[in-house]
Amino acid sequence: MMKPSESVKIQNSDGIVKSSSSRRRKSCVMRRTHSTPQPQRDEAQRRHEVKLRANRTFCEAVKFDRELLENVKGFLDPEEGMRLYDTALLAAGKGPCLEIGSYCGKSAIYLGTACREKNSILFSIDHHRGSEEQQPGEEYFDPELFDFASWRMNTLGNFRITLDKAGLEENVVPIVTRSDVAARMWSSPLNLVFIDGGHSYETALMDYNCWAGHIVPGGYLLIHDIFPDPANGGQAPFLVYNHALESNLFKELPMTKTLGVLQRII
Ligand SMILES: C[S@@+](CC[C@H](N)C(=O)[O-])C[C@H]1O[C@@H](n2cnc3c(N)ncnc32)[C@H](O)[C@@H]1O
Repeated sequence: MMKPSESVKIQNSDGIVKSSSSRRRKSCVMRRTHSTPQPQRDEAQRRHEVKLRANRTFCEAVKFDRELLENVKGFLDPEEGMRLYDTALLAAGKGPCLEIGSYCGKSAIYLGTACREKNSILFSIDHHRGSEEQQPGEEYFDPELFDFASWRMNTLGNFRITLDKAGLEENVVPIVTRSDVAARMWSSPLNLVFIDGGHSYETALMDYNCWAGHIVPGGYLLIHDIFPDPANGGQAPFLVYNHALESNLFKELPMTKTLGVLQRII
């Protein structure tokens, strides 16, 4: 596993070459395109069009406001979002779903919309103080989400606006605390858990240890940012994904881009 200080050059999903740390994320925040050579620009344009098409598919399927979806800050690829939505449709009719890592609500739109269709609930956990890589000076710091008065990140306001605009306030329940604190007294069985919180190994493993045991047989565990090749991204989610498989509690379903999908078998 790379140390946080280590850095390599990699090409991201839009064909843009950037330096990578162990906490590298696929993100739409602060991308630089001006110095990209023409073939890479063409590839980036092609990928951008694929993303727009995937957004269109989701929005047409669920009659959703595409402009809202595209304007919500976040790190989720539309194809991954569509997979979240499809998996939540399978799960939500049988009981509640839960995500760790609300941020500004992009993944909650996909999961929450499926919950709304199935008259179910998505619990969405986040302390809204940002992950390590979103802090001042770090690669995914976004000053628009920083509260300069308290000198802390604060994504809660944006998250609530997203839920309101998306009409999801009756189907998404925000839980504003650390994931392990929320887990302390938790006892409801869950039909889907999506892990997309902190990306250090300790935090991602803690999320798994706190929540995987609540998933019912037949329910789903989804983990974002699975990078089997360390050159493409941080290894913590991938290690936790492998840990889940080694438990023999889960079977592997096909991945969508960096979204790992497991189904609980016992
Ligand atoms: C990558 S972002 C989530 C992105 C979101 N799923 C989306 O689709 O846009 C990670 C979020 O996890 C939150 N987070 C990090 N560690 C956490 C923890 N231990 N408990 C709760 N939230 C945490 C951060 O505040 C941040 O908002």
